[in-house]
Amino acid sequence: MSLIQQLGFLEFEVTDLDAWEGFMTKVLGTELVDKAADGTMRFRMDGHLYRFVVTPGPRDDLRTMGWQVESAQKLDECVARLEKAGVEVTRGDADACAARGVLGMIAFRDPGRIPVEIFYGPSRGREPFKSDYVGSHFVADELGLGHLVISTRNRDESRDFYIEVLGFKLSDHIVCEIGTYQVDIAFLHTNPRHHSLAMGGPMPKRVHHFMLQVGSIDDVGLAYDRARDHGVVIEQELGRHPNDRMFSFYAQTPSGTQFEFGHGGRIIDDATWEPTTYHAISEWGHRRPPRKRPKPETPA
Ligand SMILES: [Fe+2]
Repeated sequence: MSLIQQLGFLEFEVTDLDAWEGFMTKVLGTELVDKAADGTMRFRMDGHLYRFVVTPGPRDDLRTMGWQVESAQKLDECVARLEKAGVEVTRGDADACAARGVLGMIAFRDPGRIPVEIFYGPSRGREPFKSDYVGSHFVADELGLGHLVISTRNRDESRDFYIEVLGFKLSDHIVCEIGTYQVDIAFLHTNPRHHSLAMGGPMPKRVHHFMLQVGSIDDVGLAYDRARDHGVVIEQELGRHPNDRMFSFYAQTPSGTQFEFGHGGRIIDDATWEPTTYHAISEWGHRRPPRKRPKPETPA
């Protein structure tokens, strides 16, 4: 088993809390768990007490990604590995653990300076999760909340850090050109989900997109309809990726970052898995929708 079990939570710092509340509940179909006096909201999508934290601030970007390990012993192993690699690690005190609802946690920054937390013992929701909008279910629980594509200072440096220090495994690469843009992405797994983390080069924000997976094709179509109905900007129409086989679409969060919403992601068996390189980002689809052009001004 990998040292890291799964992607546990994502924390976003956002300027428009109301827009995020509507987006998380009415578009994605997660459930609001609680709202603090400063406006910080938590949302759930499976048996965990929460999977998303949305907090007020000017950044409109990912604030923290949280990775789950099995036990205090595994957390100590992470500390030892990180310190051996020269990473400055902070241990979360009782207040920090209570705020996160975990039994133990550490914090540090990855090579791209993204704040990372690793924890064990997350709180569980009291009631079974049931979405008002997603009729099947979110494919989460022991596979983690989904996946995340992060910005790096240097792609190889971050890929090697997550593999060599934190024990992630390489799934594959996608290397191709889209127009004049050179795509070179590394995909890593830490449980049977094809990838929980992926990375290319430097980007304006810390995260390109996060992905949520649902249990039916219809739930992808219904989410697409909800996104359109709520005026969400669609970035890529429906399509399928060659490596994780995800049938999905991409659209904007209220912070201008993106999310992917999909079904049918591939499950990896490490006993037989051979990393490879693909030369296309999509088998079909994932095309940018036509943008509305401004009406030409009528000459006077
Ligand atoms: Fe993705």
